[in-house]
This record gives sequence, structure tokens and C-alpha cells, in this order.
Amino acid sequence: MQTAFDCLIDSFVTHNVGIAENFLSASLSAQLKENIQACYSDNLLRAAGIGNKVLPMQDKLVRSDLIYWLDRKHNNPVENSFFDLMDRFVAYLNSTCYTGITGYEFHYALYEKGSFYKRHLDQFQNDKNRAYSMIMYLNTGWQEKDGGELCIYHADHVQTIAPVNGTCVFFKSSALEHEVCLNHQPRWSITGWLKSA
Ligand code: OGA
Ligand code: MN
Repeated sequence: MQTAFDCLIDSFVTHNVGIAENFLSASLSAQLKENIQACYSDNLLRAAGIGNKVLPMQDKLVRSDLIYWLDRKHNNPVENSFFDLMDRFVAYLNSTCYTGITGYEFHYALYEKGSFYKRHLDQFQNDKNRAYSMIMYLNTGWQEKDGGELCIYHADHVQTIAPVNGTCVFFKSSALEHEVCLNHQPRWSITGWLKSA
């Protein structure tokens, strides 16, 4: 596993955006996808909002994804395997990069056909705890015509990343504006933030 962790961290250090293909094993990503699809069937996914609880501003013009927060309290073995992986990653990141991460939060996301999330920054004005953004994709067989790219706005160029199964993207939450482009197939993912107190 160290290889995928190093790959993510090294590309982050070099390019400000870490990308690691196969960060999620094929079996974990398949289990996670089955799990989010079960949540969807059970009507557990909810329209995502903008801002945090202090500034609730739901706005379908800005984002149209459906989300479900993962939680160890669910006692779901698949969610727990995911958290075990994140615990290993955070321990590795803290020990190699002195990042001082003390917590995290992750949600499943479904962008139904025709969804998007307009250009935004992940750190809230009134909550600076989100240090790093992490996104992992659960889409096997994703094709260019399916759209749904993640576009990251660097000072001098725009980086486009396809939401390919198992890939993880990692960047500083306060630093980079980004956008999810219109998708033409259902787009499944896990998004989360590593937090420093
Ligand atoms: C987010 C986000 C990007 C993606 O949920 O804040 O920017 O590619 N997601 O899903
Ligand atoms: Mn975002």
C-alpha cells in the first residue's frame, strides 16, 4: 500500500495535486460502489448543500450531487475497511510530512446524469479545519464522452481529471478552486477532507 501512498504524496509535492491510480483496490472500490448503490436504493442519499451548518445555503444552481456521510457508527464492514485505509494513510502522511492531521470526514457522492458542481473552494470562510481534500472514484469503464471531469484551476492552467475507478485526487483545500463538469452517466465517488484542529 505504501506505493500508492507515496505516489499520491509525491505527485502532490511536485504538482500541488496528488493523483494515484488504483489507490482503492479493485475489490474495495467494487464493495464501496455496491454499498453506495444500496444506500441509494434505501433512499439514504440527500441533496448536498453549500457552506457548513452555520451558513446553510442549499443551492441547486451550484451543485446537484446527492451525498451520504460515512460513519464508523454504522458498523458497516465496507465503510470500516475504507476508514482503516484512511487511518493508515493519515498515519503515513503525518509521519512523513508532519501534516498534523487530527481527523477527517468523508461522504459518498452520486452525480446523477446531468449533474455538476460549479467552481468552488472546499474550505469554508468560517471553518478553516479542512486542510486537504481527497476524492476517490468508483466508476468502472468511464469514457471521455461520459463527461464529469474534475477541473482544477491552477494559476496558469486548468487541469482535467477523469473520474476513473480507483483513482484518488488529493490537494490543499484552501488553495485550489475546482469544478465538476456536467456528467452524462451516473458518477459515483467518495469525497472527504483531512482536518487539522
Ligand atoms: C466536492 C468536489 C470533486 C469531484 O465534493 O467538493 O469538489 O471530482 N468533488 O467529485
Ligand atoms: Mn470541492
